[in-house]
Amino acid sequence: MEERIYIFDTTLRDGEQSPGCSMNIDEKVRMARQLEQLRVDVIEAGFPIASVGDFEAVNAIAQMIEHCTVAALCRTVRTDIERAWEAIRNAKKPRIHTFIATSDIHLVHKLKKTREQVLSDATAAVRLAKSLCEDVEFSCEDASRSDIDFLCKIVSVAIDEGATIINLPDTVGYAVPEEYGSMFRLVRERVSGIHGVTLSAHCHNDFGLAVANSLAAISNGVRQVECTINGIGERAGNAALEEVVMALRTRKETLGFDTNVNTEEIYKSSRLLSTLTGMNVQRNKAIVGSNAFSHEAGIHQDGMLKSRITYEIMTPQSVGIKHSTLVLGKHSGRHALKQRYAELGYELTNDDLEEVYRTFCAVADQKKDILDDDLIAMLEDRGHTAEEVYQLENIQVFSGTNLRPTATVEIRYHDKRFVDSATGDGPVDAAYKAIERITGITGKLTEYSIKSVTFGHDAIGEVFVRVDFDGVHFNGRAVSTDVITGSAKAYLEALNRAMMAKKRRQEQQSAAKEQPVAV
Ligand code: KIV
Ligand code: ZN
Repeated sequence: MEERIYIFDTTLRDGEQSPGCSMNIDEKVRMARQLEQLRVDVIEAGFPIASVGDFEAVNAIAQMIEHCTVAALCRTVRTDIERAWEAIRNAKKPRIHTFIATSDIHLVHKLKKTREQVLSDATAAVRLAKSLCEDVEFSCEDASRSDIDFLCKIVSVAIDEGATIINLPDTVGYAVPEEYGSMFRLVRERVSGIHGVTLSAHCHNDFGLAVANSLAAISNGVRQVECTINGIGERAGNAALEEVVMALRTRKETLGFDTNVNTEEIYKSSRLLSTLTGMNVQRNKAIVGSNAFSHEAGIHQDGMLKSRITYEIMTPQSVGIKHSTLVLGKHSGRHALKQRYAELGYELTNDDLEEVYRTFCAVADQKKDILDDDLIAMLEDRGHTAEEVYQLENIQVFSGTNLRPTATVEIRYHDKRFVDSATGDGPVDAAYKAIERITGITGKLTEYSIKSVTFGHDAIGEVFVRVDFDGVHFNGRAVSTDVITGSAKAYLEALNRAMMAKKRRQEQQSAAKEQPVAV
């Protein structure tokens, strides 16, 4: 039976205080709700003395969260501690987290205090915090660069004053795993009261070692890990929660630990944070990057199609991602290509596959990602061209300030003309709604862009759209001096491609049914 590691999430404190990651109160509350869904053990909601906004956010989160402990950060200063307590006193499970730097570098250059003064500040702070709140965490900022004897001394004092959690951060991401682990080992060996408290790791990622250091700390007696969603945080960030949690979950047999995190909420949490802060994760980010479950190399795709355990150490579903993707590009092989066509509803014979694979390789050399629509176009190029089933005859749009945009569209469909009108959020939206009313086909616009292809006030604009029809994406492109006309034409092109693909699929299916069955 594995032991439990407590996950202390500091996305809303250490994460939020880093450049480009600030959130307003409502956004912090939304994020905190998601962290509760994720089932972290502790949410560090902020640093209440820092600003009124910080205080209010911590206070709102403290009142709302049901199951997690809510921690508030404060220096070892009376006013800080009292303010932190005021912010969290109504929480179901409040925690005061007080900290002071312990390395000589910080004492000399930042605090300008002696070790004795720091010791006395820590003693008074933990005592005050404990008189207010049962759950008190004490952190030695820059612990990994602190003198070990002094570190043991201050930890011992904090425990005597009632601290329940002792956190020893690698504040500047300077430690390497063995060293960071051995700091905990030494503290455990030398501080007599240490076994009555929970030891905590808090790592920054300046060398990209934050997760490795956290795991080394766990091997040396740490049972709480402080981390952030997407690894956001000061400078290079903090240990990424998703990486720590998934390493522990996936390698449970080897490491012997697990967390209470609902890992299926990981991706959602990552996405929410990116949306709220506008800070996207890099494509190759472990666990939550868009490439984390994508395979492009032919050998990998072939392996994946035979058995996913060849190239995936955890399932995308286990972190809340629907499925892995085989990205079709110049490294893909026939097997993956055939599979994608099958998913799009086309069963290719070996001859079909050979022919289309040749075109595919030529296109893939020019174009990075090959989309579903490109694949369908490759089939069409072999004698099946898209018919202009729906043709734009006319379009008229009314829009202006204080006027709900209305579009009237006339479409020709097999020599018959149809006219309808609709209103929308903008003139293009109104036009697309009118097209939907006429055709009875609903598409979801997933991409829309306009670029100017000539210059001047009568410039020609090229409209590009990508539309999702029943889960398959089709592109449409049109040029016009009028962007609304161009937008309608581009949409109809995507729609006509979707109709063509559907027709081809139906033809294939009925041909397959008519095949004589061998007896
Ligand atoms: O990195 C650090 O030392 C901190 C402490 C305030 C816990 O964030
Ligand atoms: Zn930190």
